[in-house]
Amino acid sequence: MSNYPKKVYLNGEILDYQNAKISVFDRGFLFGDGIYEVMAQVNGSFFYEVEHLNRLADCLQKINIDFEISTLSEKINNLLSVSDLEGEDCLLYIQVTRGIAPRKHAYPNNSSPTLMMYALPYKLPDINQNHTAVVTVKDQRWHRCDIKTTSLLGNVMANDYASKQEAYEAIFIRDGRVTEASHCNVFFVKDAIVYTHPADEFILNGITRQQIIILCDDLCIEVREMAISQEQLLSMDEAFLTGTTTQVASIRQINEYFLYQNDKVGPITKKLQKAFLELKNKKVNVQ
Ligand code: PDD
Repeated sequence: MSNYPKKVYLNGEILDYQNAKISVFDRGFLFGDGIYEVMAQVNGSFFYEVEHLNRLADCLQKINIDFEISTLSEKINNLLSVSDLEGEDCLLYIQVTRGIAPRKHAYPNNSSPTLMMYALPYKLPDINQNHTAVVTVKDQRWHRCDIKTTSLLGNVMANDYASKQEAYEAIFIRDGRVTEASHCNVFFVKDAIVYTHPADEFILNGITRQQIIILCDDLCIEVREMAISQEQLLSMDEAFLTGTTTQVASIRQINEYFLYQNDKVGPITKKLQKAFLELKNKKVNVQ
């Protein structure tokens, strides 16, 4: 999502992006007091739309923003139509903040939420062929990473550190254990068992992560929702990242350590990439 979109939905209006403006007293701007979602339209329908919108609703509820999610679908359709993206492969960004109020930390009594959305053309590859490099960083984020808040400074700092080293992602280490990455979840494979951090307050429970766990069950691959330690990192057979735009990306290199001596992706990662593609085709074709 690196370009500006044609159009932006803002509180009931659809505007050219240059004209979409918010108050400096919007709490999203002042405090990062808001929630966001990103979902992909593939072959004419949003992939796991219900799950994404439910997560948005859950996160808003966790921070007491009163917002009616059921009104979104119609607004999304209008935005896509005006953006010439009806039925087109694209990414949709949705952000809801607590709205405008004089600056004071405690929640204001009667601010009305700000809703902002935009869509950009985006074609996901069938399978993410990148064999990625990642670096490890200390997880300096807060203890509520399960909330998909727009306050992403810890993630931004980590991802910038990774990109300065030409790595795709930064993998967070908290108290000696791997949590997730700056905008992806992370999985490991050892002796044919798949490991990923449990869905607690230290990670975002990715929609892609949840689907990969279900796929492992379907494929009779054992999954343990268990954090692996920093020491174990360097003895894993395979590792991969998951996320809406990343899908399933193999990890080839962690810091200076190469998991593979050649360009081949590990067998379990490959199996899951293939199964995820099939799921995507199946999912998008039924709607
Ligand atoms: N990132 N962990 C973090 C910290 C994330 O920001 C994301 C998503 C994920 C994967 O979640 P999902 O599978 O539901 O996309 C895990 C989005 C795409 C972003 O910030 O752009």
